[in-house]
Amino acid sequence: MDELRVTGGKVLKGDVLISGSKNAGLPVLFASVLSSGTTDIQNVPVLQDIKSSVALLESLGAEVFWDRESRDLKIQSDSISNFEAHYDLVRKMRASSLALGPLLARFGKAKVSLPGGCAIGARPIEIHLEGLKALGAQIDLEQGYVLARSQRLRGCRYELPFPSVGATENLMMAACLASGETELCLVAQEPEIVELAKALRSAGAEIEGEGSSTLRIQGKESLSEIHHTICGDRIEAGTYLIAGLMTGGAVKVLGVSPDHLTSVIVALKEAGAEIEVGSDWISLDSKGRRPLSVPIKTAPHPGFPTDMQAQWMTLMCLAEGKTEIEELIFENRFMHVPELSRMGAHLAIHGQKVEVVGGCELKAAPVMATDLRASASLVLAGLVAHGTTIVRRVYHLDRGYEQMEVKLQKLGADIQRVHS
Ligand code: UD1
Repeated sequence: MDELRVTGGKVLKGDVLISGSKNAGLPVLFASVLSSGTTDIQNVPVLQDIKSSVALLESLGAEVFWDRESRDLKIQSDSISNFEAHYDLVRKMRASSLALGPLLARFGKAKVSLPGGCAIGARPIEIHLEGLKALGAQIDLEQGYVLARSQRLRGCRYELPFPSVGATENLMMAACLASGETELCLVAQEPEIVELAKALRSAGAEIEGEGSSTLRIQGKESLSEIHHTICGDRIEAGTYLIAGLMTGGAVKVLGVSPDHLTSVIVALKEAGAEIEVGSDWISLDSKGRRPLSVPIKTAPHPGFPTDMQAQWMTLMCLAEGKTEIEELIFENRFMHVPELSRMGAHLAIHGQKVEVVGGCELKAAPVMATDLRASASLVLAGLVAHGTTIVRRVYHLDRGYEQMEVKLQKLGADIQRVHS
């Protein structure tokens, strides 16, 4: 299993090219199931979750051609003849449940394993299932699988009890092939939803309202070819900006829309960073200053993203005084707290809040990555810790960060991947 060795104390400076977004890319890969033509997706990052999705689509019978050099992925799904997403594939990646809506809408049947728990919480999918029922699907649960069947789905009005990103994606994809109009209310407003709407529209889907709380979709008999370029990964970009501020450096992230990171940019400015933005870049200059204390609460978009909470907590370990970090999306997303504490951070969990007493000196230690964003927070801690931090179980990191150690080396970090 690979590990990362990070020796702290380097000031990060320079430009970093941001990869295509994992979370924006995954739903577009699954949307290919809806398309009667060849889906062509550009700027596809080479990440474990994308590989898992490709394996799942191939297991269904889709033909996939992935040119990793040019980052171009083509999917032909007319040949799908298996409608089961097996547990072995789904347990590796929760986003596999995004196969459900498209399979059901196009082929009238789907058998998809329930994802089960994961490190950051129970993460059920009942909103996906209730929404599909509202569209006319018959849903049964058997031996850990969702069995979904339907004639052609029927447009409906459905109000989500919570703006789940995955449920919004599943339902908007399914509604594209339903008869008549579907109105989805209280939907997620994340940039990934806007990107998925763009991709579906390229194939002839009629969608209005993406980025707001209501989506209106006129169902079509079929969708043609999807042509889509995946946007830059806002969470990857935010992570490198925090790395710049933590190390007292200056970092410019290229290939990402600042509009996708508004709440993070506001918080970074409050923390004392000087920020400039262009249409597809963001630059941060710490001016060599220590960050200031800025409390955050995670919330659905446009609030502060839960996927940046662990990284923000690490940043706040350096700020003088007390800071409160509140996690309102996932019930168990503080797995990084005990690991950061082993590095000398002063953190106390009170329910859904963590009190950070900043201004401490972090010290290197062997630490264990527990989930994707927690892993990133440990690498960030390693960048400023005294000594060499060893981050184990980096396969979590590899699910969502493309060549993190290479990008950090280019910025001047002392970091190596060791195959052990
Ligand atoms: C997506 C992102 C993930 C991000 C999350 C929240 C992808 C591949 N993953 O995950 O990185 O952290 O959005 O921004 O895009 N919930 C239910 N019932 C449901 C669905 C969700 O209770 O049917 C709960 C979840 O347990 C969780 C919360 O709603 O507590 C948010 O989940 P959701 O927005 O669905 O996240 P994902 O789509 O899984």
